[in-house]
Amino acid sequence: MIPILPIILGYLLGSIPFGLIITRLGGAGDIRQIGSGNIGATNVLRTGRKGLAAATLLLDGLKGAAAVLLAANWPLMAQFPHAGLWAGLFAVIGHLFPVWLRFRGGKGVATGLGVALAACWPQGVLMCLIWLVGAKVTKISSASALAAFVAAPFLAWIFAGPGHALLALLVTLLVLAKHHANIRRLMAGTEPRIGAA
Ligand code: G3P
Repeated sequence: MIPILPIILGYLLGSIPFGLIITRLGGAGDIRQIGSGNIGATNVLRTGRKGLAAATLLLDGLKGAAAVLLAANWPLMAQFPHAGLWAGLFAVIGHLFPVWLRFRGGKGVATGLGVALAACWPQGVLMCLIWLVGAKVTKISSASALAAFVAAPFLAWIFAGPGHALLALLVTLLVLAKHHANIRRLMAGTEPRIGAA
């Protein structure tokens, strides 16, 4: 059975472009015209508005977590096996390819972390720690995020088994694909530090 309801729920929640909404409401302009053009918190920070960046990080994370928790606990979804995992996967897909922005969305880091925290909290916590340590050491958001997401399938396997590991692997592949320009800049040594334009 196709888990249509968890997929729709996850996609709709994930596709809310909080970075775009928050920067517009905060009077910081269209985030797609600033810095990397990404709608994520790292790029919102390039506006110089730390509060807007923090709100973007929080809300992008919360929508991922909400998708998993709602699908896993809503009686309507109980008929679908692994409803929480499906909703989590499609929350990330919704963030990456939002229909409202002609499928040009973000890179999935905050939403993927929110999904991981809700689906398997030890995995999520360790991913956040890897990101934080990586950011402290490298001062590069994308490098820290990539390290956390490369570790994700292994952590999911250890703490929650193959189903979660498959979800984590798919999310990681999507996040890596969306970071192709960052990976090229990292290899060229031209990726900007956190907060730099
Ligand atoms: O969260 C996305 C981050 O990993 C990279 O963002 O704007 O530097 O491409 P950005």
